[in-house]
Amino acid sequence: MTENMESYPLSLEGDGIPMVRFQNVTKRYGSLVVLNQLDIDVSAGEMVTIIGPSGSGKTTVLRMLMTLETIDDGVIYVEGEPLTHMERNGRLVPASSAHLRRMRSKIGMCFQHFNLFPHMTALGNCMEGPVQVLGLSRKEAEERSLELLDMVGMIEKRDQHPSRLSGGQQQRVAIARALAMRPKVMLFDEVTSALDPEVISEVTSVIKHLVDTHNLTMLMVTHQMGFAKEISDRVCFFFDGAIEEQGAPTKLFENPERERTQQFLNAVLHAN
Ligand SMILES: Nc1ncnc2c1ncn2[C@@H]1O[C@H](COP(=O)(O)OP(=O)(O)O)[C@@H](O)[C@H]1O
Ligand SMILES: [Mg+2]
Repeated sequence: MTENMESYPLSLEGDGIPMVRFQNVTKRYGSLVVLNQLDIDVSAGEMVTIIGPSGSGKTTVLRMLMTLETIDDGVIYVEGEPLTHMERNGRLVPASSAHLRRMRSKIGMCFQHFNLFPHMTALGNCMEGPVQVLGLSRKEAEERSLELLDMVGMIEKRDQHPSRLSGGQQQRVAIARALAMRPKVMLFDEVTSALDPEVISEVTSVIKHLVDTHNLTMLMVTHQMGFAKEISDRVCFFFDGAIEEQGAPTKLFENPERERTQQFLNAVLHAN
Protein backbone atom coordinates (compact mmCIF):
# COMPACT_ATOMS: atom_id res chain seq x y z
CA MET A 1 0.00 0.00 0.00
CA THR A 2 0.98 3.57 -0.55
CA GLU A 3 3.28 5.17 1.97
CA ASN A 4 3.67 8.82 2.93
CA MET A 5 0.11 9.66 1.97
CA GLU A 6 0.41 12.99 3.78
CA SER A 7 2.35 14.42 0.85
CA TYR A 8 -0.60 14.10 -1.55
CA PRO A 9 -3.49 16.57 -1.75
CA LEU A 10 -6.88 15.20 -0.63
CA SER A 11 -8.38 16.67 -3.77
CA LEU A 12 -7.31 19.04 -6.54
CA GLU A 13 -8.90 22.49 -6.42
CA GLY A 14 -9.21 25.52 -8.60
CA ASP A 15 -9.62 26.36 -12.26
CA GLY A 16 -8.20 24.14 -14.92
CA ILE A 17 -7.75 21.04 -12.81
CA PRO A 18 -6.75 18.14 -15.05
CA MET A 19 -9.32 15.51 -15.95
CA VAL A 20 -6.70 12.90 -15.09
CA ARG A 21 -3.56 13.28 -13.01
CA PHE A 22 -1.03 10.59 -12.16
CA GLN A 23 1.11 11.88 -9.34
CA ASN A 24 4.24 9.92 -8.51
CA VAL A 25 2.54 6.65 -9.44
CA THR A 26 4.61 3.54 -8.95
CA LYS A 27 3.54 0.02 -9.87
CA ARG A 28 5.60 -3.06 -9.19
CA TYR A 29 5.13 -6.75 -9.85
CA GLY A 30 7.44 -8.32 -7.31
CA SER A 31 10.81 -6.73 -7.93
CA LEU A 32 9.86 -5.52 -11.43
CA VAL A 33 9.11 -1.79 -11.43
CA VAL A 34 6.57 -1.33 -14.21
CA LEU A 35 5.66 2.32 -13.59
CA ASN A 36 8.36 4.40 -11.98
CA GLN A 37 7.09 7.50 -10.16
CA LEU A 38 4.98 8.45 -13.12
CA ASP A 39 3.48 11.92 -13.44
CA ILE A 40 1.00 12.67 -16.21
CA ASP A 41 -1.76 15.24 -16.51
CA VAL A 42 -4.48 14.97 -19.14
CA SER A 43 -6.71 18.01 -19.59
CA ALA A 44 -10.44 17.83 -20.17
CA GLY A 45 -11.08 17.24 -23.87
CA GLU A 46 -7.47 16.36 -24.61
CA MET A 47 -6.43 13.39 -26.78
CA VAL A 48 -3.16 11.99 -25.49
CA THR A 49 -1.43 9.11 -27.23
CA ILE A 50 1.03 6.80 -25.53
CA ILE A 51 3.65 5.13 -27.69
CA GLY A 52 6.67 3.10 -26.72
CA PRO A 53 8.30 -0.32 -26.80
CA SER A 54 6.52 -3.46 -25.73
CA GLY A 55 6.72 -3.86 -21.95
CA SER A 56 7.27 -0.15 -21.26
CA GLY A 57 4.10 0.06 -19.13
CA LYS A 58 1.56 1.53 -21.58
CA THR A 59 -1.22 -0.95 -20.87
CA THR A 60 -0.52 -0.75 -17.15
CA VAL A 61 -1.31 2.99 -17.20
CA LEU A 62 -4.73 2.27 -18.68
CA ARG A 63 -5.39 -0.69 -16.39
CA MET A 64 -4.63 1.45 -13.37
CA LEU A 65 -7.15 4.03 -14.56
CA MET A 66 -9.70 1.24 -14.90
CA THR A 67 -8.84 0.28 -11.30
CA LEU A 68 -7.91 -3.19 -12.53
CA GLU A 69 -4.58 -2.86 -10.74
CA THR A 70 -3.58 -1.62 -7.31
CA ILE A 71 -1.06 1.18 -6.88
CA ASP A 72 2.14 0.74 -4.89
CA ASP A 73 2.82 4.43 -4.46
CA GLY A 74 1.37 7.74 -5.56
CA VAL A 75 -2.17 8.87 -6.27
CA ILE A 76 -4.31 9.05 -9.41
CA TYR A 77 -6.87 11.86 -9.53
CA VAL A 78 -9.87 11.92 -11.87
CA GLU A 79 -11.71 15.24 -12.03
CA GLY A 80 -9.65 16.26 -9.03
CA GLU A 81 -10.77 13.36 -6.84
CA PRO A 82 -8.50 10.49 -5.82
CA LEU A 83 -9.41 7.40 -7.84
CA THR A 84 -8.49 4.55 -5.53
CA HIS A 85 -8.29 6.54 -2.31
CA MET A 86 -10.73 8.59 -0.34
CA GLU A 87 -10.48 11.13 2.42
CA ARG A 88 -11.15 10.08 5.97
CA ASN A 89 -10.39 12.35 8.93
CA GLY A 90 -8.18 14.52 6.77
CA ARG A 91 -6.13 11.62 5.39
CA LEU A 92 -6.20 9.56 2.22
CA VAL A 93 -7.15 5.95 2.84
CA PRO A 94 -7.94 3.12 0.39
CA ALA A 95 -11.29 3.77 -1.29
CA SER A 96 -14.47 1.94 -0.35
CA SER A 97 -16.14 -0.17 -3.02
CA ALA A 98 -18.87 2.49 -3.35
CA HIS A 99 -16.24 5.15 -4.06
CA LEU A 100 -14.53 2.85 -6.58
CA ARG A 101 -17.82 2.16 -8.36
CA ARG A 102 -18.61 5.86 -8.65
CA MET A 103 -15.13 6.74 -9.91
CA ARG A 104 -15.04 3.80 -12.33
CA SER A 105 -18.19 5.01 -14.01
CA LYS A 106 -16.26 8.02 -15.29
CA ILE A 107 -13.96 5.84 -17.36
CA GLY A 108 -14.58 3.68 -20.42
CA MET A 109 -12.16 1.38 -22.17
CA CYS A 110 -11.69 -0.48 -25.44
CA PHE A 111 -9.06 -3.18 -25.68
CA GLN A 112 -7.31 -4.91 -28.53
CA HIS A 113 -9.67 -7.87 -28.11
CA PHE A 114 -13.18 -6.59 -28.14
CA ASN A 115 -14.66 -9.01 -25.58
CA LEU A 116 -18.23 -8.46 -26.65
CA PHE A 117 -20.81 -10.63 -24.88
CA PRO A 118 -21.11 -13.49 -27.41
CA HIS A 119 -24.70 -14.40 -26.58
CA MET A 120 -26.02 -10.87 -27.10
CA THR A 121 -26.69 -8.91 -30.26
CA ALA A 122 -24.81 -5.70 -31.07
CA LEU A 123 -27.70 -3.74 -29.61
CA GLY A 124 -27.92 -5.99 -26.55
CA ASN A 125 -24.20 -5.52 -25.91
CA CYS A 126 -24.63 -1.74 -25.86
CA MET A 127 -27.76 -1.83 -23.67
CA GLU A 128 -26.43 -4.17 -21.02
CA GLY A 129 -24.32 -1.70 -19.00
CA PRO A 130 -26.80 1.19 -19.10
CA VAL A 131 -29.60 -1.13 -17.90
CA GLN A 132 -27.67 -3.22 -15.37
CA VAL A 133 -25.22 -0.67 -14.01
CA LEU A 134 -26.78 2.74 -14.62
CA GLY A 135 -30.35 1.58 -14.03
CA LEU A 136 -31.77 3.05 -17.25
CA SER A 137 -35.08 1.73 -18.53
CA ARG A 138 -34.79 -0.61 -21.52
CA LYS A 139 -36.36 2.07 -23.69
CA GLU A 140 -33.85 4.73 -22.64
CA ALA A 141 -30.95 2.33 -23.02
CA GLU A 142 -32.17 1.29 -26.47
CA GLU A 143 -32.48 4.89 -27.67
CA ARG A 144 -29.01 5.71 -26.45
CA SER A 145 -27.54 2.52 -27.94
CA LEU A 146 -29.17 2.98 -31.33
CA GLU A 147 -27.81 6.50 -31.55
CA LEU A 148 -24.31 5.25 -30.82
CA LEU A 149 -24.58 2.26 -33.17
CA ASP A 150 -25.60 4.75 -35.83
CA MET A 151 -22.61 6.92 -35.04
CA VAL A 152 -20.20 4.00 -35.46
CA GLY A 153 -21.95 2.90 -38.66
CA MET A 154 -23.39 -0.31 -37.19
CA ILE A 155 -27.10 0.44 -37.05
CA GLU A 156 -27.91 -2.10 -39.75
CA LYS A 157 -26.13 -4.84 -37.83
CA ARG A 158 -27.83 -4.12 -34.54
CA ASP A 159 -29.51 -7.54 -34.36
CA GLN A 160 -26.39 -9.55 -35.24
CA HIS A 161 -24.39 -11.51 -32.72
CA PRO A 162 -20.62 -10.84 -32.52
CA SER A 163 -19.75 -14.12 -34.27
CA ARG A 164 -21.46 -12.78 -37.39
CA LEU A 165 -19.46 -9.56 -37.39
CA SER A 166 -15.98 -8.84 -38.75
CA GLY A 167 -13.23 -7.72 -36.38
CA GLY A 168 -13.62 -4.10 -37.44
CA GLN A 169 -17.37 -4.28 -36.92
CA GLN A 170 -16.96 -5.89 -33.51
CA GLN A 171 -14.52 -3.20 -32.48
CA ARG A 172 -16.95 -0.49 -33.56
CA VAL A 173 -19.68 -2.12 -31.46
CA ALA A 174 -17.23 -2.27 -28.56
CA ILE A 175 -16.63 1.47 -28.88
CA ALA A 176 -20.38 2.14 -28.94
CA ARG A 177 -20.81 -0.11 -25.92
CA ALA A 178 -18.19 1.80 -23.94
CA LEU A 179 -19.68 5.15 -24.94
CA ALA A 180 -23.16 4.03 -23.91
CA MET A 181 -21.98 4.37 -20.30
CA ARG A 182 -21.27 8.08 -20.97
CA PRO A 183 -17.73 8.03 -19.62
CA LYS A 184 -15.81 11.26 -19.20
CA VAL A 185 -12.55 9.57 -20.13
CA MET A 186 -12.12 6.96 -22.87
CA LEU A 187 -9.15 4.65 -22.98
CA PHE A 188 -8.10 2.82 -26.14
CA ASP A 189 -5.46 0.11 -25.98
CA GLU A 190 -4.18 -0.96 -29.40
CA VAL A 191 -7.72 -1.19 -30.70
CA THR A 192 -6.54 -1.81 -34.26
CA SER A 193 -3.74 -4.28 -33.54
CA ALA A 194 -5.85 -7.42 -33.95
CA LEU A 195 -7.59 -6.20 -37.11
CA ASP A 196 -6.98 -7.05 -40.73
CA PRO A 197 -5.27 -4.11 -42.44
CA GLU A 198 -8.21 -3.34 -44.71
CA VAL A 199 -10.63 -2.71 -41.82
CA ILE A 200 -8.34 -0.63 -39.62
CA SER A 201 -9.62 2.63 -41.10
CA GLU A 202 -13.24 1.73 -40.14
CA VAL A 203 -12.17 1.92 -36.53
CA THR A 204 -9.72 4.81 -36.73
CA SER A 205 -12.31 6.94 -38.51
CA VAL A 206 -14.75 6.36 -35.63
CA ILE A 207 -12.10 7.50 -33.15
CA LYS A 208 -11.27 10.48 -35.33
CA HIS A 209 -14.96 11.39 -35.43
CA LEU A 210 -15.06 11.26 -31.62
CA VAL A 211 -12.07 13.58 -31.41
CA ASP A 212 -13.63 16.02 -33.86
CA THR A 213 -17.13 16.11 -32.45
CA HIS A 214 -17.05 15.16 -28.76
CA ASN A 215 -15.41 16.78 -25.82
CA LEU A 216 -14.25 13.44 -24.44
CA THR A 217 -10.91 13.14 -22.75
CA MET A 218 -8.99 10.29 -24.36
CA LEU A 219 -5.87 8.29 -23.66
CA MET A 220 -4.85 6.00 -26.48
CA VAL A 221 -2.10 3.44 -26.82
CA THR A 222 -1.30 2.73 -30.44
CA HIS A 223 1.38 1.42 -32.77
CA GLN A 224 -0.03 3.36 -35.67
CA MET A 225 2.24 6.35 -35.74
CA GLY A 226 0.48 8.04 -38.67
CA PHE A 227 -2.83 7.89 -36.86
CA ALA A 228 -1.26 9.14 -33.62
CA LYS A 229 0.30 12.04 -35.46
CA GLU A 230 -2.96 12.93 -37.14
CA ILE A 231 -5.29 12.99 -34.16
CA SER A 232 -3.33 13.53 -30.95
CA ASP A 233 -3.03 16.77 -29.05
CA ARG A 234 0.02 15.33 -27.34
CA VAL A 235 2.14 12.22 -27.69
CA CYS A 236 3.96 10.59 -24.77
CA PHE A 237 6.84 8.27 -25.51
CA PHE A 238 7.16 5.69 -22.75
CA PHE A 239 10.35 3.92 -21.84
CA ASP A 240 10.82 1.67 -18.81
CA GLY A 241 7.70 2.82 -17.01
CA ALA A 242 8.28 6.53 -17.32
CA ILE A 243 7.80 9.26 -19.88
CA GLU A 244 11.03 9.64 -21.78
CA GLU A 245 9.74 12.47 -23.96
CA GLN A 246 6.40 14.09 -24.71
CA GLY A 247 5.13 16.87 -26.90
CA ALA A 248 2.96 17.95 -29.78
CA PRO A 249 2.79 15.23 -32.44
CA THR A 250 4.65 17.17 -35.12
CA LYS A 251 7.45 17.93 -32.68
CA LEU A 252 7.73 14.42 -31.29
CA PHE A 253 7.55 12.62 -34.63
CA GLU A 254 9.54 15.06 -36.75
CA ASN A 255 12.00 16.41 -34.29
CA PRO A 256 12.42 14.11 -31.29
CA GLU A 257 15.06 15.22 -28.83
CA ARG A 258 15.89 12.05 -26.97
CA GLU A 259 18.01 9.34 -28.44
CA ARG A 260 15.65 6.61 -27.24
CA THR A 261 12.74 8.29 -28.95
CA GLN A 262 14.72 8.58 -32.17
CA GLN A 263 15.71 4.91 -32.02
CA PHE A 264 12.15 3.78 -31.35
CA LEU A 265 10.70 5.87 -34.14
CA ASN A 266 13.37 4.73 -36.58
CA ALA A 267 12.61 1.12 -35.73
CA VAL A 268 8.82 1.36 -36.02
CA LEU A 269 8.67 3.69 -38.98
CA HIS A 270 10.96 1.46 -41.02
CA ALA A 271 9.40 -1.80 -39.91
CA ASN A 272 6.86 -1.94 -42.72
N1 LIG B 1 0.09 -9.28 -13.99
C1 LIG B 1 1.41 -9.11 -14.20
N2 LIG B 1 2.34 -9.78 -13.50
C2 LIG B 1 3.65 -9.59 -13.70
N3 LIG B 1 4.16 -8.75 -14.63
C3 LIG B 1 3.30 -8.06 -15.37
C4 LIG B 1 1.88 -8.19 -15.21
N4 LIG B 1 1.27 -7.36 -16.11
C5 LIG B 1 2.27 -6.75 -16.78
N5 LIG B 1 3.47 -7.17 -16.34
C6 LIG B 1 4.78 -6.68 -16.83
O1 LIG B 1 4.79 -5.28 -16.73
C7 LIG B 1 5.52 -4.71 -17.81
C8 LIG B 1 4.66 -3.68 -18.51
O2 LIG B 1 3.56 -4.32 -19.12
P1 LIG B 1 2.51 -3.54 -20.01
O3 LIG B 1 2.01 -2.36 -19.29
O4 LIG B 1 1.52 -4.55 -20.47
O5 LIG B 1 3.45 -3.07 -21.23
P2 LIG B 1 3.06 -2.49 -22.66
O6 LIG B 1 1.58 -2.31 -22.74
O7 LIG B 1 3.83 -1.21 -22.78
O8 LIG B 1 3.58 -3.50 -23.65
C9 LIG B 1 5.95 -5.86 -18.69
O9 LIG B 1 7.27 -6.17 -18.36
C10 LIG B 1 5.02 -6.97 -18.30
O10 LIG B 1 5.60 -8.21 -18.50
MG1 LIG C 1 0.15 -3.17 -23.97
